[in-house]
Amino acid sequence: LGKNIIHKESTSSTQTIAHEHARNQAPNGTVIIADEQTDGRGRINRNWDSTKEKGIWMSIILRPEIPAHHAPQLTLLTATVLADVLSSYPLLQPQIKWPNDILLNGKKCAGILTEMQAEQDQIWYVIIGIGLNVKHTREDLSEELRHRATSLGMETEKDWSIQELIQKILATFEKTYELYLERGFGEIKEKWEHYGFKIGKEVNIKTMKEEWKAPFLGIAEDGAMLTISKDGHNQRIYSAEISWFDN
Ligand code: BTN
Repeated sequence: LGKNIIHKESTSSTQTIAHEHARNQAPNGTVIIADEQTDGRGRINRNWDSTKEKGIWMSIILRPEIPAHHAPQLTLLTATVLADVLSSYPLLQPQIKWPNDILLNGKKCAGILTEMQAEQDQIWYVIIGIGLNVKHTREDLSEELRHRATSLGMETEKDWSIQELIQKILATFEKTYELYLERGFGEIKEKWEHYGFKIGKEVNIKTMKEEWKAPFLGIAEDGAMLTISKDGHNQRIYSAEISWFDN
């Protein structure tokens, strides 16, 4: 991993570039990094603010031999990689908000976007997009974002090296990914639950169909969130927004 790194000063989105390279047979582990994205993408069709040299904007191409329905595990794996890297700095206590936002003091500092090309249950390639806010100051964030988003710099008042963080993320990713391919998802799941935000607590769950309050019980082998349905049964949630009220 990271033997083949493609660096762009400015690009639309490293995801888009990664798709092009993956279609053109780029090897497993190819990494695309940009100093700036002009059209950074977040989950659910959101924009992702990717200002020049303020953070890490990168996409990793993987060609794992796992069934396509296991791909969500890779997103959760990536979240544990970021949490491990951040928690290696004594100042930071990262948490993961299901499915894959990284929080510092309750505010989002990183997001993960997984995209895949597969045929039936066979993966052709997976692209893991990582966005990590590093050097943003309060002034860099809009009034609206300030309540929900943060950066490493804002939480610590330290001058972070983007290069050092990239190296740590890639090294930790490689180790964790190899462990996953060898031993499966079990240890990753435990680690995820260690960092998981609001596990055991009541959260507000909003799916396409309905909205209700229920306890967040943990995650399943396939990456689903475990909870209790509106009518009181065990339920697995694959896609939803969760939120909470602090009390
Ligand atoms: C989210 O919505 O939380 C996911 C954000 C993912 C952003 C990263 S930045 C690098 C890669 N390129 C993109 O356009 N998006 C991902």
